[in-house]
Amino acid sequence: MKKILVTGGLGFIGSHICVSLIEKNYSICIIDSLINSSEDNLLSIKKICNLSNNFLEDRITFFKGDIKNKRFLKHIFKKAIDDKKPIEAVIHLAGLKSVNESTEEPLTYWETNVVGTLNLLEAMQIYNCKNIVFSSSATIYRPTINELLTENSDLGPISPYGTTKLTIEKMLEDLAKSKKNDLNIINLRYFNPVGAHISGLLGENPKGKPNNLFPILLKVASGEYKKLSIFGADWPTHDGTCIRDYIHVMDLAEAHISALNFILNSSSVFINLNIGTGIGKSVLEVVETFMKVNKCEFEYSFVSRRQGDSPYLVADNRLALSTLNWKPQKSLNDMCIDAWKWKITSKNKFK
Ligand code: UD1
Repeated sequence: MKKILVTGGLGFIGSHICVSLIEKNYSICIIDSLINSSEDNLLSIKKICNLSNNFLEDRITFFKGDIKNKRFLKHIFKKAIDDKKPIEAVIHLAGLKSVNESTEEPLTYWETNVVGTLNLLEAMQIYNCKNIVFSSSATIYRPTINELLTENSDLGPISPYGTTKLTIEKMLEDLAKSKKNDLNIINLRYFNPVGAHISGLLGENPKGKPNNLFPILLKVASGEYKKLSIFGADWPTHDGTCIRDYIHVMDLAEAHISALNFILNSSSVFINLNIGTGIGKSVLEVVETFMKVNKCEFEYSFVSRRQGDSPYLVADNRLALSTLNWKPQKSLNDMCIDAWKWKITSKNKFK
């Protein structure tokens, strides 16, 4: 059973990846600072995967800690070797991810995302771990008006958050070029991950005030917020609202498993891959779909454009499809149904 380190493994995306990894018979070591996640997700992962206490240690271990802490990271790799179950690959998700916050606290973003990754890569080098799947983002591209983004599209992040993601990609590229290291690296450039695990036990639960569409939509639909503000009705799109490539978080999780299988069977690869469905949906289409499939109604109104938004961000995902032997399976309906199920379940749980 191969052991995989998942940094940020209790966050929204990380926790879903952990479920897929366990289902695919990997053993996982999770590290997470819990700054923007909760240990409840660990219980949910175990419950979904039906892990009983027998041999639990073999399948899943969790260490609370921060990637800014070099000693902590080295300890994780060393302990795995001492236990005779070395870490064979890393899925690296740990990092800060609020675009807004990154404009207010750029140094914090550089420290956590860039320095944190540097620490991780150093620890990997010391302990001879050669495989990494990195959680990158479509936010590194220069936005276009209506063209699908390929991996070769122009780069040009507009926020410190985006710059840190691109910087990490560059760091990984430099490492890949240095023959001495002989690493296998895949950067997965996520588009807009949404939805939740079909069980309703895992989903997106950001700490503090949410900024992204789905978490806000769920608060509006459940009555916590009065109405949804749609940012702009005058964009150059068919209905005037922005278009995004929403991808179900379990499809995204499966993309990580495929990427992992790919690098574990390769030598010296460095690949950037767009992870989206290739299908764009407008904010209005999302709102209408959500109401229809969940048979609910809520108020929304149009307000001015949000600074830094772009009208159209949709993936050309053909390289990912052909490289990874992976294909997104879930529709926008599924994303809306599963997200709502998560909201209802978690609302009851935290009452
Ligand atoms: C944002 C980040 C991106 C990150 C992604 C994670 C920005 C500029 N980009 O992308 O770096 O990787 O989240 O999923 O923040 N909207 C509303 N009303 C709201 C909230 C959102 O109309 O209350 C609209 C936005 O204008 C946008 C769409 O919904 O058109 C999606 O927004 P959001 O979920 O924040 O994602 P992105 O902005 O695409």
